[in-house]
Amino acid sequence: MLKPMSAVDLRAVSSVEDVSQGLRDNSYLPDEALATTIYLSLRLKRPLLLEGEPGVGKTEVAKVIADWGGGRLIRLQCYEGIDASQAVYEWDYARQLMHLRAMEATGKARSTNEAELSGELYSERFLVRRPLLEAIASTSGTPAVLLVDEVDRSDDEFEAFLLEVLSDYAITVPEIGTFTAGNPPVVVITSNRTRDVHDALKRRCLYHWVEHPSAQREAQIIRLRAPEVTETLAREVAHAAEAIRSVGLYKPPGVAETIDWARALNLLGGAQLDLAGASATLGALLKYREDRDRVLEHDLAEIVSDAGTAAVRESESGSIGSEPASAGL
Ligand SMILES: Nc1ncnc2c1ncn2[C@@H]1O[C@H](COP(=O)(O)OP(=O)(O)OP(=O)(O)O)[C@@H](O)[C@H]1O
Ligand SMILES: [Mg+2]
Repeated sequence: MLKPMSAVDLRAVSSVEDVSQGLRDNSYLPDEALATTIYLSLRLKRPLLLEGEPGVGKTEVAKVIADWGGGRLIRLQCYEGIDASQAVYEWDYARQLMHLRAMEATGKARSTNEAELSGELYSERFLVRRPLLEAIASTSGTPAVLLVDEVDRSDDEFEAFLLEVLSDYAITVPEIGTFTAGNPPVVVITSNRTRDVHDALKRRCLYHWVEHPSAQREAQIIRLRAPEVTETLAREVAHAAEAIRSVGLYKPPGVAETIDWARALNLLGGAQLDLAGASATLGALLKYREDRDRVLEHDLAEIVSDAGTAAVRESESGSIGSEPASAGL
């Protein structure tokens, strides 16, 4: 895999093409629309809100932006019931207690008044920074990338709180004071849209709906992530995956599953997609029995054969590298 030559100043990136190239250098192939939204969010310093079906590459965007910019990736995984103590900060009660005991044992507690004692116990030394505070209080010259992953799993109160943090990039810890971001993080928020994110949060962000990649781009992604897979097999797998997604599945496969499928087929020795190989490895692509049955009902043989035809046509026109987000394969 290609590695970045050096970190770049994300806030000064000069064009959409630079964004595409930067992400590509870090093994991510964005389409033009996604690269444009990322460019704008970096330049306008606005959070990026990515929605889309599972497995279309939302979370990965934050990871590759961090790799590209050379900043730290700080991840906040949202879930039902997440609250400030898991997202912002909490006090390390066990260490505070031990410190207090040690003070008592050495007699230091006696000579310390109450205000001094609480000042000592509620100091940064005993503050456990959780991702939001970590991102705001980061003093590094390179902006960190704050990934707020799957925000739709959290509840309304948490979203309102997040909105507050993102509006002034400041967090107040009553016992210590206010932390303000000197170098605000690049913020990427993802959602699978199990519920709608509120308008107020959306208004703060630049929004992009991430689509499944086209077959051409998915073939490029397979080659990039699994270079051992032949170009022909990558094309065929990508076309077959595109057809399979269109048959109305409970869980259409994501890009990660397509890559796994291509790897599985390659391991079984197939330089090309055939029916026997496809049915033997379908478990790499589909994780529900009903979906498997549905694909078999839709005639896997036909899907495989159509994918072969489409791949030949594509290879004759040399179109694997013709998309704007080409990996130059
Ligand atoms: N455009 C892309 N270029 C390169 N790799 C990609 C691309 N899109 C997806 N991938 C691959 O697919 C994998 C899954 O992507 P990711 O985890 O970001 O999906 P997601 O949209 O966050 O899914 P979920 O909603 O299930 O969390 C990535 O690890 C990466 O290998
Ligand atoms: Mg994700």
